[in-house]
Amino acid sequence: MFKVAIIGAGNVGATAADYIAIKNLAHVVLVDINDGAARGKSLDLLQTGPLSLHSSPIQGSGSYEATAGSDIVVITAGVPRKEGMTRDDLLRINAQIVRSAATEALKYSPDAIFTVVTNPLDVMTQLTYQVTGLPSQKVLGMAGVLDSARFQTFIAMELGVSPVDVKAMVLGGHGDLMVPLLRHASVNGIPALELISPERMKELAARTRDGGAEIVKLLKTGSAYYAPGASIALMVEAILRDENRLLPCSVLASGQHGLSGMYLGLPAVIGRSGVKRIVELPLNADEVKALTASAASIEQNVAAMNTLIGWGQEEPAATESAATKEADPEK
Ligand code: LAC
Repeated sequence: MFKVAIIGAGNVGATAADYIAIKNLAHVVLVDINDGAARGKSLDLLQTGPLSLHSSPIQGSGSYEATAGSDIVVITAGVPRKEGMTRDDLLRINAQIVRSAATEALKYSPDAIFTVVTNPLDVMTQLTYQVTGLPSQKVLGMAGVLDSARFQTFIAMELGVSPVDVKAMVLGGHGDLMVPLLRHASVNGIPALELISPERMKELAARTRDGGAEIVKLLKTGSAYYAPGASIALMVEAILRDENRLLPCSVLASGQHGLSGMYLGLPAVIGRSGVKRIVELPLNADEVKALTASAASIEQNVAAMNTLIGWGQEEPAATESAATKEADPEK
């Protein structure tokens, strides 16, 4: 049986565990510095087995030891975005948390594929790539699947059709400059732009860009977790079942659209070995321009993060124990 470690037993981590269990994908281990939360939520989820008809073992722990030998490590630990806070405001605190989580998890699961969820997403994925030293194929971030699901949902609502029939992709960083692709969105193969005016499509793209913030504003305490949890489970399934799904994920660009050496959302073929390949789409000049602007913003934040955590100026493990103490995402 496959094993999936989820670091951070907050709403996103626990919801991901729920979806992974329902799909009978793996033995799930939820880890949190608040081991009561990890153990309590795991026990609660385990008791859904007879109801949701799954037999996935789910275990909670305050220690990384329980994650040993995981096939996938999902990092959700971090503080969530609060109202009025941009995703990038989270940079400082979450960098410490993610650095510690990635370092600790790697000790017990050196062969795992790391899937990062903590915000600011692309920056935290890059950080995980840096601190684990893993090949880029084995480190990816979840954002494009979620942002695309939001865009697909808004298109479906607009047309009064099933969201199942809507396909769309959002590329770039998981931030205010994300790039919903209007020309490529379709309803069962029919270009969405033949059914919805360009002006209206731009409004749906804008709502997608603000999709996370819209929910933060309504919830008042915390951010979205159902669609993020389902997005994680979809990526975990694609990896474990070697599905070769073409999904927008945060991956290390290697020359696509003139970008390289940085993590951002691009279409990638995902399977058992992680990121099998990145697909370069024939984007038009406006789309490349938007992608480049999004990439520039991520690059600035990566530089800021590396300064904040002193990357390259100290021993990589120096801040580890202090950071571990902050790893409860709900506090
Ligand atoms: C969102 C936050 C979690 O997009 O990034 O909902």
